[in-house]
Amino acid sequence: MAETYDIGLGNTDLETRKQADSDFVSFWDTQAKNLSWFSSWDKTLDWKPPFARWFVGGTINASFNTLDVHQGAKSEKTAIFWEGENGESRVISYGELFLKVKKFSNVLKSLDVKKGDRITIYLPMVPELIIAMLACARIGATHTVVFSGFSSTSIKDRIYDSKSEIIITADGGFRRGKIVELKNVIDDAITDLDFVKHVIVLERTKTPITLTLKDKLWSDLMDIASDVCDAEPLPSDHPLYILYTSGTTGKPKGVLHGTGGYLTHLYSTFKWAFDIKDSDVFFCTADIGWVTGHSYVAYAPFLHGATQVMYEGAPDFPDASRMWDILQKYGVTIFYTTPTALRMFMKFGDDIPNSFDLSTLRLLGTVGEPINPEVWRWYFKTIGKEKCPIIDTWWQTETGGMLISPLPGLETIPLKPGSGTLPIPGVNISVVDENGEDVLPNTKGYLVVKNPWPGMLLTLWGDDEKYQKVYWSKYTNCYYPGDYAKKDHDGYLWLLGRADDVLKVAGHRIGTAELESCIVSHGDVAESAVCGVPDELKGEVVIAFVVLKHNVTTPNDDLEKQLLTKIRNDVGAIATPKQICFVSKLPKTRSGKIMRRLLKSIANNEKIGDTSTLEDGAAVSEVQSVFDDISKSLKKN
Ligand code: WTA
Repeated sequence: MAETYDIGLGNTDLETRKQADSDFVSFWDTQAKNLSWFSSWDKTLDWKPPFARWFVGGTINASFNTLDVHQGAKSEKTAIFWEGENGESRVISYGELFLKVKKFSNVLKSLDVKKGDRITIYLPMVPELIIAMLACARIGATHTVVFSGFSSTSIKDRIYDSKSEIIITADGGFRRGKIVELKNVIDDAITDLDFVKHVIVLERTKTPITLTLKDKLWSDLMDIASDVCDAEPLPSDHPLYILYTSGTTGKPKGVLHGTGGYLTHLYSTFKWAFDIKDSDVFFCTADIGWVTGHSYVAYAPFLHGATQVMYEGAPDFPDASRMWDILQKYGVTIFYTTPTALRMFMKFGDDIPNSFDLSTLRLLGTVGEPINPEVWRWYFKTIGKEKCPIIDTWWQTETGGMLISPLPGLETIPLKPGSGTLPIPGVNISVVDENGEDVLPNTKGYLVVKNPWPGMLLTLWGDDEKYQKVYWSKYTNCYYPGDYAKKDHDGYLWLLGRADDVLKVAGHRIGTAELESCIVSHGDVAESAVCGVPDELKGEVVIAFVVLKHNVTTPNDDLEKQLLTKIRNDVGAIATPKQICFVSKLPKTRSGKIMRRLLKSIANNEKIGDTSTLEDGAAVSEVQSVFDDISKSLKKN
């Protein structure tokens, strides 16, 4: 018997799925009516594969739907309980948020920002990040938020690609008690980007900074801005944001999301998955620099006029009790986090969470990576005290919102630890083989989405061709997310990790190609291949195999240090390999292609499989023996 947990929240809406199954287009048409539109649409879906445009002809505004609609009845209601890493707190009502967003919209207008202009935001987790995003949305500017842990090179690439003329940053941000000097990173990034006109600098840490001619202080601009600013009616497919994410090619992809479809998807999934009620206190631990923070921090909770907690710092700072302390302090009812965070909390032991009052919790969620069943059970028992359903939500930057998840706000179905259960209503998902045929139950295959959905990306910024190629070329008219999955006899989906060269380290997406091209750009390196190995805490960690140029004699600690620094500077600290292995050659095919499959098998202790195309067997033995040594030393540590 499979392990199941019959726990829900008492909701039993059978109608919603029925309507969705009978006609997904008219189903989403009905859902879209939950939002406030300036003008209605003429066509619900314009589907010219691979381009979907939802609610064509309708006009809408994301800032209006998150703020204006709540004024009056909810002006006094708390929108954000903000908790600083150093223990500071701020309580921001819907009324105050509204006022600040309107003012900041006028700040942007005063700098000549027009509809469709891109604005890069590089801020720590402070309410001003949300204010900046909603202000862009209000006037129709397209925001592109860059995670505040990224290096100047990564930011430069993103500013350049999006041609952002305005950057919003802060003097610094707090992380583990230290100040990260964000403004300096931006100064470096824009050194030769002449098209950048203004840098708005929020004074967060009050660190001394040198202002250049392009810099303007957030407070100076806000002091003189008017608080009258109507939301701009925008076409439903107006680009709300670009969010860069790693893929299988060297360059990060600019995932472009629209407005009307995206908001419809968020509104619906937030209601179905989280069963959101007016009295709830929602807490999602994701940084807004990633998609979870965009969808389920900056937008979805506000669409529902919900109260949420926003936390600035590291989850275990100053100690392992920080999360539980926040949950208790604010009476959190819904908690949404990652398997990586849970694995860390679990390692700290039960005594810590057990010493806090977590009785307000009624629903728990996870996102970003497969959750190990034992961690699921721990979450259920120790945190949820066996009374909270757990929603394991599968989705991607590209999908905009959840596509697979238990939906306790809609229905009560048995939960199985490690399974995301069923697709959301209105989304048709299959597990198929190489030829696109459905595989048998409990057989590993590729996950595909067979119809468009409203939160779907519009395209990749400036690259329709790549969009078509990456997601729509493996199978005809089916979206290919790049994940392995299986479906069990009950139709439950089990996500089995990436099928491509994308790694998930601590839930963050890292493209192997991006990392390899960084390593290879070091003068002493001839070739490199990176792969992921399972890790107890982070799910997966990066191992880099490096072949040096023939004139470089022996690898040494110094070279290893140089490479690690280079990776931190060029890509970001999250991509730092756990280990760099110097080898004399990499396993290649006769035609010279690196056989990553072999590396992956070795790194994961799996059978190597067919090696008939291998050019030189000695390369495999060398990689294998280097790898064995490393595994031993990792175990020792
Ligand atoms: C993985 C994060 C298993 C998956 C929202 C996907 C998951 C990638 C889950 C997208 C889950 C996300 N179970 N795997 N519940 N959620 N993934 O773009 O491999 O950062 O393709 O979006 O994360 O990562 P992204």
